[in-house]
Amino acid sequence: MCGIIGISSNKPVSGNIINSLKKLEYRGYDSAGIATLFEGEIKEVKSEGRVDSLEQNFDLKNLKGNIGIGHVRWATHGVPNSVNAHPHSSHNVSVVHNGIIENSTILKKYLISKGHNFKSQTDTEVIVHLITENLKTSELEIAITKTLEQLHGSFALGIVFKEMPDLIVGARRGSPLAVGYGPNENYLGSDSYALKAMTNKITYLEDGEFCLIKKNQVLFFNEDGKKINKKILELSSDEANYEKGDFKHFMAKEIEEQPVTIKTGIKEYIDRTNSDINIYNFPWKISEINSITLIGCGTAYHSCLMSKYWFEELTQLDVSIDIASEFRYRKNRFKKDTLYIFVSQSGETADTYAALDLCNKNNMKTCAVVNVIESSIARDANFILPIHCGPEIGVASTKAFLGQILILYILVLKLGSLRNEITKEIYQEKIKDLQSLPSLIEKSLLIDNDIQAISSTFNDAKGSMFLGRGFSYPIALEGALKLKELSYVHAEGYPAGEMKHGPLALIEDGMPVVVLAPRDSYYKKTISNMQEVIARGAKVLLITNKSKDEIFSENIWETIEVENTNDDLLPFLLTIPLQKLAYYSALKKGYDIDKPRNLAKSVTVE
Ligand code: F6R
Repeated sequence: MCGIIGISSNKPVSGNIINSLKKLEYRGYDSAGIATLFEGEIKEVKSEGRVDSLEQNFDLKNLKGNIGIGHVRWATHGVPNSVNAHPHSSHNVSVVHNGIIENSTILKKYLISKGHNFKSQTDTEVIVHLITENLKTSELEIAITKTLEQLHGSFALGIVFKEMPDLIVGARRGSPLAVGYGPNENYLGSDSYALKAMTNKITYLEDGEFCLIKKNQVLFFNEDGKKINKKILELSSDEANYEKGDFKHFMAKEIEEQPVTIKTGIKEYIDRTNSDINIYNFPWKISEINSITLIGCGTAYHSCLMSKYWFEELTQLDVSIDIASEFRYRKNRFKKDTLYIFVSQSGETADTYAALDLCNKNNMKTCAVVNVIESSIARDANFILPIHCGPEIGVASTKAFLGQILILYILVLKLGSLRNEITKEIYQEKIKDLQSLPSLIEKSLLIDNDIQAISSTFNDAKGSMFLGRGFSYPIALEGALKLKELSYVHAEGYPAGEMKHGPLALIEDGMPVVVLAPRDSYYKKTISNMQEVIARGAKVLLITNKSKDEIFSENIWETIEVENTNDDLLPFLLTIPLQKLAYYSALKKGYDIDKPRNLAKSVTVE
């Protein structure tokens, strides 16, 4: 959450800072700002809203300086306005910050007593004054170490100093931060995406580390202030993935990319010649694992729930799932025979990372199912299963969800087979069925006309419900999440069998209800629940799979049929109409689809 860029160069930097901030906007778009150093002065420009507003409000071509820092904000402390926008500066220090300083109130009191004046409502401003205060009595590196020690909470920082005209300091605790290397210039960025247009040579800071970046030199230090050496990684170039191409929105592009996501996942993990799954190098003995705990947030949590159904159906493993923000603060009974699986697109979600860290500290077996393989979660788990779906830019997760559930399904099959709980025949049959999934998804994507017409009803409604049983229940939750986050319509996902226990009271004449009833083992039960809501006036959109059998129910408002496949794989196909429903609802309302209000792509604060 929030994006940071810093450049120390031998030429003016404001143009590249602006370009990087535009790339970082997916992390936060409440306000934007830049500070450069020019002729011994800190020059600061800040604006409420997007980077475009910053460009409209200031003549950025005239923002001179060969060194600068920039920020896009997702507000935590203080309303989103230009005063609270970053950078925050004192007479000699300017700071950009991602994260939250938990002891900011105490520090602020102390700094006011020392004569410092505060302009904003942010926690970040205490960092500015704390460094200013510590620089009065200490040399730079000691002042930095001391400041970092005094801060409680999480941060990624970029700092410039009036008296050090070619230096940027970067520091990390909790929030990710990367350093990039270019010709006669070096960079600081909250992720590699911000830096990719300028360099593919990257070093990631670990928690507690800080760095001094000059145009021709980068030095790294550990939390005790001791100099350390760090590796430079070379990132692969996949620029095309960062462009919208002919699509109106990244979300539309990412929905349509799903057959490729699945094809790539299958190519990476399935050995077609031997009808086997290429996951061999587990760092533990499979016989040591008797239970699985899956942890994630939002859509990633829905992936965890989806896989629980598959694990229980196909293996004898005990499976529990947890929302990361709950797991990290509960009294957990850590068990040596449990495999803890962390699911995350970004690999930087603060709560998911903290849950992983907790498991690592308790010497648990940890595995990450992530998309960004350079991320903190990927680097710190014992074992990683990449999703390989390419960059996901739209804030609403679509292709990463299908990528996550694919990898988890493959893992279920592999563990079931290794534990002799899935017979060889069934294992190979299920691997074979997977091969047809990309083309089934491709066909299921051809529903735009139907969905566009249906979406208006959801937009006009007070609220809506998404119902499913068994394998379809996690998909109902995911469909409701997509609709609420994109079109700001109240939407609830429910197990269809729960309706009578309370939520049925919400059903009134004309209320749109999505019922996921594929012809699997739950079909008849779900159809009964559907009839109960129809009887109370609901306008039911039934999503099922193609079949010769007639649907025995009257008064269904609309029906969408996805392709047919085995029961395990139907959730992949049912997801598609729900993603498109959310997309077209938001499109009709004219909302910002790739950047829904109040949200950001990578949630690096808890
Ligand atoms: C919803 C969405 C979020 C994320 C959640 C976890 O469309 O995108 O709910 O799924 O913030 O993010 P990651 O997967 O990056 O850990």
